[in-house]
Amino acid sequence: MKKKILVTGGAGYIGSHVIKALGEKGYEILIYDNLSTGYKELVLYGELVIGDIADITVFDRVIEDFKPDAVMHFAASIQVHESVLNPLKYYRNNTINTLNLVELLLKKKIRHFIFSSTAAVYGTPESTEPVSELSLLKPINPYGASKMAVEYMLKDLSPVEKDFNYISLRYFNVAGADQEGRIGQKYHEATHLITRCLKAAKAEISRLEIYGTDYSTPDGTCIRDYIHVDDIAEAHIVALEYLFKKSINDIFNCGYGHGYSVREVVKTAKEVTGVDFPVEEAGRRAGDPPYLVADNTKIREELGWKPKHDDLSYIVKTAWNWEKKL
Ligand SMILES: NC(=O)c1ccc[n+]([C@@H]2O[C@H](COP(=O)([O-])OP(=O)(O)OC[C@H]3O[C@@H](n4cnc5c(N)ncnc54)[C@H](O)[C@@H]3O)[C@@H](O)[C@H]2O)c1
Repeated sequence: MKKKILVTGGAGYIGSHVIKALGEKGYEILIYDNLSTGYKELVLYGELVIGDIADITVFDRVIEDFKPDAVMHFAASIQVHESVLNPLKYYRNNTINTLNLVELLLKKKIRHFIFSSTAAVYGTPESTEPVSELSLLKPINPYGASKMAVEYMLKDLSPVEKDFNYISLRYFNVAGADQEGRIGQKYHEATHLITRCLKAAKAEISRLEIYGTDYSTPDGTCIRDYIHVDDIAEAHIVALEYLFKKSINDIFNCGYGHGYSVREVVKTAKEVTGVDFPVEEAGRRAGDPPYLVADNTKIREELGWKPKHDDLSYIVKTAWNWEKKL
């Protein structure tokens, strides 16, 4: 029989790509999303129920009717800058709503849970080595802290709720879009570097700002680990299949293990789009780590995850195909 997966936030950027992967694998999918930042048209498979996780009564009924075998939880607020201005929104939507969700799952004896965490839990790593899952957690904004709080909650729960198993996936910089251009990133406010380059190429924004050119990196700009969204989706599939086989509670980094500087991304975006868009060099932003790259040994070795799109040019091309359609 087909396994049933409940996906919160599945009408968003990453959730919709995971749904595509789940749908292609034949899972039965129910999406629960309030469409605050998501879009119906991004949902390629499954049934969409429009609702808010905070609306516990409705959500309880949805879970009761669907009886999922597993829950993947993407629903969250994700703007770092907004989290600094409105921290309570982040603790409410990302931490408290997840606590309520987990409580519901315990009540209904739903045993498998996959949580969307983030590299923001690492804050500003002191070394320029890739960070492993054992590196120090020191988020520097309420967004990262609201996710770290959930990680602690899940960890503290595991010794007492032995039938409840979870995997937290810490995503690094997710980018790119569906190869066929059916779905992609559609945020109200584009803050991600690759998307901003493409918006500059479309002249939707007047220029691309580079924040900080005097970091101790080879070209002076910050280095990030950009991972294609379909490889993130595949990480969810391997994590889910692993959870169905083994009772584990664990955390895995999702990144390629190497990074690109801001200047390298800008260069690739200019090559892919064929547009020499204006670039402005600005001062550093508070809280930007110079170097944030995943040590991905654990997810490769333990879950057998094999990324297929570790190629910046491919990432930018798929994002550009999508962006041109918006
Ligand atoms: N985009 C990245 O690079 C990145 C990196 C690390 C972690 N993440 C995590 O991945 C997850 C998905 O992010 P995304 O980039 O797809 O963002 P997104 O904004 O596109 O998706 C979030 C989805 O959740 C829904 N949602 C939000 N609050 C809800 C609520 N209370 N009830 C029901 N639905 C709700 C939104 O409508 C949206 O469809 C988030 O948990 C985010 O923290 C993203």
